[in-house]
Amino acid sequence: MKINFPRTNLGFWPTPMHACPNLTKRLAKSHDTPSIYIKRDDQSGLGLGGNKVRKLEFLLGDAIEQGCDTLITGGAAQSNHCRQTAAAAAKCGLQCHLVLGGEAPDHVNGNLLLDHLFGANIHWAGEHRKGEDLPQLAKDLQKSGRKPYLVEYGGSSKIGALGFVAAMAELKKQLLQTRTDITHIVFASSSGGTHAGLTVGAFIEELPITLYGIGIDKRSAQEAPFNALVSGICNGLGVLLDIEHRYQPSDLTLDEQFLGGGYGVIGDLERRAIALLAQSEGILLDPIYSGRAFGAMIALIEQGVFTKKDQVLFWHTGGTPALFANASLLTQ
Ligand SMILES: Cc1ncc(COP(=O)(O)O)c(C=O)c1O
Repeated sequence: MKINFPRTNLGFWPTPMHACPNLTKRLAKSHDTPSIYIKRDDQSGLGLGGNKVRKLEFLLGDAIEQGCDTLITGGAAQSNHCRQTAAAAAKCGLQCHLVLGGEAPDHVNGNLLLDHLFGANIHWAGEHRKGEDLPQLAKDLQKSGRKPYLVEYGGSSKIGALGFVAAMAELKKQLLQTRTDITHIVFASSSGGTHAGLTVGAFIEELPITLYGIGIDKRSAQEAPFNALVSGICNGLGVLLDIEHRYQPSDLTLDEQFLGGGYGVIGDLERRAIALLAQSEGILLDPIYSGRAFGAMIALIEQGVFTKKDQVLFWHTGGTPALFANASLLTQ
């Protein structure tokens, strides 16, 4: 399906999709292991890559179409989404304001260093790491004569999620070209746009693949349950793309058993996952999202969730700059 929405060219597509033979062999020694493949959105090209580049192509398309001159968004101090938004703004000649959780640190590293290098204006927001202060910032910028475009937390508006609808069409071509039958896709799911876009994309492309989202961030009591958030974005996409099919929260597979000590708390699961993929395939994960999701996939293999006949694709969503902000926790 051709997606007829304004789009800005930011990334390198298609991102590579390839087998992980060493990893598959290593795991096969002890388990009934499926074949493992990987989709490399860590190589999406802009500003050290990651999954948000896909969303930002449509979000910047929309911002530019509306005549906006400034992007504003928010996240954690080491947010990959904020770093990729800053890079996209720099490439398109827009001003960028980031509202980050916490206080200004003494030392700037990882994604935060890159935010500075991309020329973003940083605002520190204490407890607010999910863009709670963005509406006020938008008002202030309007008063000073700017035309801001508010990029929702994680870029997970329905416009942003279009990037992952397009990603499914990209994957389908790769599967046909390489004659690969993927049965499951495992990926990190947090603000929901990746999950929703893949879900609607799989429906449009008629791909009978089980999408297995790994929850990364515990939802607070005030927030809707995660699968309700994702089904809501799916239904927003349905309206946007004129598709009649609608989703219920129960239609989505979202595994929240790997939340560990909470968002950004790096434990043995993440440490082991990062070492395993680095030492078997020479591929780096990040400690917060892709490391947790990959560790979850290994645990699911150990739990016997997949069979030897399955072909499981790990969708690498990027985030590797955060490795450098967590060096001491990764060398324990
Ligand atoms: C590296 C990485 N992977 C996965 C995700 C989750 O994607 P989504 O927010 O679309 O659920 C994020 C979100 O920030 C991320 O930075």
